[in-house]
Amino acid sequence: LPERIEHFHSLVPLDTAQQNSQTPFGYPSWVYKAISVNDGKAYALRRFEGYRLTSERAVRNIQAWKRIVSGSIVTIHDVFTTRAFGDSSLIFVTDYHPLSTTLAQHHFGAGSHFQPRQTGQISEKVLWSYIVQIASALKIIHNTGLAVRLIEPSKILLTSKNRIRLNACGVLDVIQFDSQTSIAELQQDDLMQLGRLVLSLAVNNIQAMHNPTRFIEHLSRIHSPELRECILWLLNSPTPQNFKGIDSFLANISGHVITSFNSVLHSEDNMTTMLSRELENGRLVRLLVKLGFIADRPEFDHDPQWSESGDRYFLKLFRDHVFHAVDANGNPVLDLGHVLTCLNKLDVGIDERLQLESADEQTLLFVSYRELKRRLQDVFQELVVASQRSYG
Ligand SMILES: Nc1ncnc2c1ncn2[C@@H]1O[C@H](COP(=O)(O)OP(=O)(O)OP(=O)(O)O)[C@@H](O)[C@H]1O
Ligand SMILES: [Mg+2]
Repeated sequence: LPERIEHFHSLVPLDTAQQNSQTPFGYPSWVYKAISVNDGKAYALRRFEGYRLTSERAVRNIQAWKRIVSGSIVTIHDVFTTRAFGDSSLIFVTDYHPLSTTLAQHHFGAGSHFQPRQTGQISEKVLWSYIVQIASALKIIHNTGLAVRLIEPSKILLTSKNRIRLNACGVLDVIQFDSQTSIAELQQDDLMQLGRLVLSLAVNNIQAMHNPTRFIEHLSRIHSPELRECILWLLNSPTPQNFKGIDSFLANISGHVITSFNSVLHSEDNMTTMLSRELENGRLVRLLVKLGFIADRPEFDHDPQWSESGDRYFLKLFRDHVFHAVDANGNPVLDLGHVLTCLNKLDVGIDERLQLESADEQTLLFVSYRELKRRLQDVFQELVVASQRSYG
C-alpha cells in the first residue's frame, strides 16, 4: 500500500488508557484525531502498532466496507501502512465524530480516567433503540456479504444522545484475513455478539459479555419478557433447522423498528421547522451585514461624502428608519416587530412605498422597498468589486 500518512497533520491522541496487546485485535491500538491536507476535514485514524501487511488479500474487503453507507456505522475511508511512527503500523482512516464516547466509557466507566457518565439501569426504551440501530447496520453489512466480527461496548461509538455507531468495522477483516471461518458463520456470530452486548447493557454488567448464562436469570427481574426473548433468540446457537439471519431478527423486532422510525420522522419534522426558522434568520443577517458595510462608511472611492450621497443615502436613511425610530416625545422605539417587518419587506423587495426622513427633518424621500433592494444590491456589488481589486 502507498504511504499516505503525509496526507494528515495535527494528530491528537484520543485514547485515555495505555494500550497493550490485550486489545480485541491482538495489537496495541491507538486512535488519533487528524486533519486531512486534501479536504481540511477532521478524520479519526486508528493505528495498529507493529502490524506487517503480508498480503494484498488482507485489504481486499476494505473496498466493500468503503461503499457501505449507514447512519449506524463509523464510515471507513482508507487503510494504509506507515513507518512514520518508528514501527510498522497499519492505519484505518474513518469519519471523526466530535465529542463522542464509547458505550464502554458511557455505561461502564471503562478506561481508568473515566467515571461512567450514566450509571445504573439503562431504560428499556434506550436498549431497544440501540438494538434497532445496530440491527439496521447489520442488515446492510450482511447483505453486502460482510460481517462486523467485533460488537462490543468499546467498539461502539456514542456520537450524540442515544445515537450509536459500530466502530472499527473492517479491522478484523484485515488483521485476521486468513481466518478459515465462513462468512455465514461470522454473520451468525455477529448476532451472538449483539446478544451478549444487549445482555450486558440490560443487566448493567460488562462481565455478561464473557459469561452470558450467569446473567440471563437476572433479566426477568428487571426487563420485559419481550426483551428477554429477544436476547435469548440472539444468544441461542443456530441449528440446521433454525438458521438465524438478520432478516428474521428484524421481523421479530419490527414493532420496535417502527417505533424508532416514527420517532426519527418526528425529530426530522422538528429539525426542518427549526432549520426553516434559522434560514429566515440567515437571510436577515445577510441583509444586516450588507447594510452595515454600507451605512456610515467614512470614505470610499476618495469621496468622504460617499455614504451621504446617492443610493447610499437612501440606505442610510432606511437604516435609521429601521433602528432609530422615536416616538412623539423623541424617546427611542425598540420594536423588534418593526425591525423584522421592515427587513423582511426589503428582503422580498415588495412594491410598498415608505417615507424616509433625515434626522434633521430637512430631507424627505419616498421610495419603494423594491427600489431599496436594488440600490442595496448595486452598492454592495460596488464594494465587492473594490474589495477584490485590493486583494489583487
Ligand atoms: N471515529 C471516532 N471519532 C471520534 N472519536 C473516536 C472515534 N473512534 C474512537 N474515538 C474515541 O477514541 C477513544 C479511543 O477509542 P478506542 O476504540 O481505542 O476505545 P478504547 O476504549 O481505547 O478501546 P481499546 O481498549 O480497544 O483500545 C474513545 O474515547 C473514543 O470515544
Ligand atoms: Mg484504544
